[in-house]
Amino acid sequence: MKAIRSMVKKIPLKDLEAFIDIIANAYPGFGIVSPDDKKKMKQRMVKLSLDPTINHYGVYRDRTLIGGMRTYDFMMNLFSVRTLVGGVGLVAVDLLRKKERACKEMISFFINLYRKKGSVLVALYPFRPDFYRKMGFGYGTKLNLYKVWPGDLPRGGSKKHVRFLNEKDRDALRRCAYRFFLSHHGMLEMKRHELDYFFKSSEAKTVVYKEGKKILGYLLFVIKRVDDANFLRNNIVIRELVYENEVVLSELLTFLHTQLDQIHQILYPTQEEFFHFLPRDPRDGSDNIIPLIGHQVNTQGIGIMYRVIDAKGMFRLLRDHKFGNHNYRLNIVLHDSFTGRGEESLVVEFKDGLPRLVARVAGDVRIHLDIADFSSLMVGSVDYRSLHKYGLSQISDRGFIEIVTDTFRAVEKPICHNTF
Ligand SMILES: CC(C)(COP(=O)(O)OP(=O)(O)OC[C@H]1O[C@@H](n2cnc3c(N)ncnc32)[C@H](O)[C@@H]1OP(=O)(O)O)[C@@H](O)C(=O)NCCC(=O)NCCS
Repeated sequence: MKAIRSMVKKIPLKDLEAFIDIIANAYPGFGIVSPDDKKKMKQRMVKLSLDPTINHYGVYRDRTLIGGMRTYDFMMNLFSVRTLVGGVGLVAVDLLRKKERACKEMISFFINLYRKKGSVLVALYPFRPDFYRKMGFGYGTKLNLYKVWPGDLPRGGSKKHVRFLNEKDRDALRRCAYRFFLSHHGMLEMKRHELDYFFKSSEAKTVVYKEGKKILGYLLFVIKRVDDANFLRNNIVIRELVYENEVVLSELLTFLHTQLDQIHQILYPTQEEFFHFLPRDPRDGSDNIIPLIGHQVNTQGIGIMYRVIDAKGMFRLLRDHKFGNHNYRLNIVLHDSFTGRGEESLVVEFKDGLPRLVARVAGDVRIHLDIADFSSLMVGSVDYRSLHKYGLSQISDRGFIEIVTDTFRAVEKPICHNTF
């Protein structure tokens, strides 16, 4: 019997329609049905491909395209180090070719591609968290959905700097987004098409906080009907809220507060954990009581996931980052069943928290963990104590649990405003 030839390569223009057919079936929610829908999708994909940091790859079996994905070169703020991180989205496999390990082949290719580019980390938004955790991706910071009546948000003294975004603000908006990126661990630098969205979207509106020529914050939102029965009942769904200081936030919240006569609720998806401290009534309108007695203030989900693809490289990259302030040698043993690399062992010496890889020396303590959980630990979206408690990591000396926890404790968990 002849062996099937399988390979992953960039999808040439001539195969884009075949990829769109696969996407249309894989993501029925996209509503790509008519020839016109497909034409529009093609135009969007061709336009995106003009950005050299965005590519479409396909898996070919016997020269037939059976699945594809979109990759992104992102610049990420990783503990204040600006670094290249690979992103993948739009993973889709032909319905007739599912469970033939096409996705596995693409993700392996994606990981190798970004290793070759010198990245230490990759990221994705999963269609199912367990599917990608098995492939070594660890959970990022949880996403919270808050629902607040506008009148419960604080009405500050002013909203005089708040105005609608206009075409001339493009550069000021880009600069504001860039400053926010530079000051927040986990953020990805905004891409051109993302900036375009603010100006071209027919449904989304943006108000900005502007002082002189400078934009110091913005609120991107969509107004959506609560239900079909009443066209006068609407919600504001926040797509992005950025503020550089508390005065800016106060004015943007005042803007939201003053929508109270027409807006039923503000829906705010955010990785901010403490947002419920802000509204007068923190409850989300569900009246749900979580047993025994907990008033529901938000629902939560797992969004972005990360995978360390070069553990040693990550410590080298973060050589000036303070991992706590302890002095000891930590032996990390990583299990990675997906890449076929098996176990990897490294010893990191921390001097006042600053890491340095050392060879041929034993650690003062050894920890074992899976690459997925290690990835969450490295970016600061989980603490070591919890991983140990849940049996997800073993430690050679329990006396070090708190020290290892301090080592990987992030002051701010990673946040990400980009979807891909
Ligand atoms: C989700 C989707 C991409 C999966 O594609 P698929 O080609 O059917 O998936 P695969 O056959 O590659 O399944 C993954 C394989 O990797 C294997 N695998 C995962 N982690 C592994 C590990 N650590 N070690 C070894 N094998 C591993 C799995 O076991 C599975 O193989 P098996 O079925 O033989 O057990 C596809 O169903 C699809 O297009 N869905 C709709 C669109 C969508 O939701 N896309 C995702 C958006 S992010």
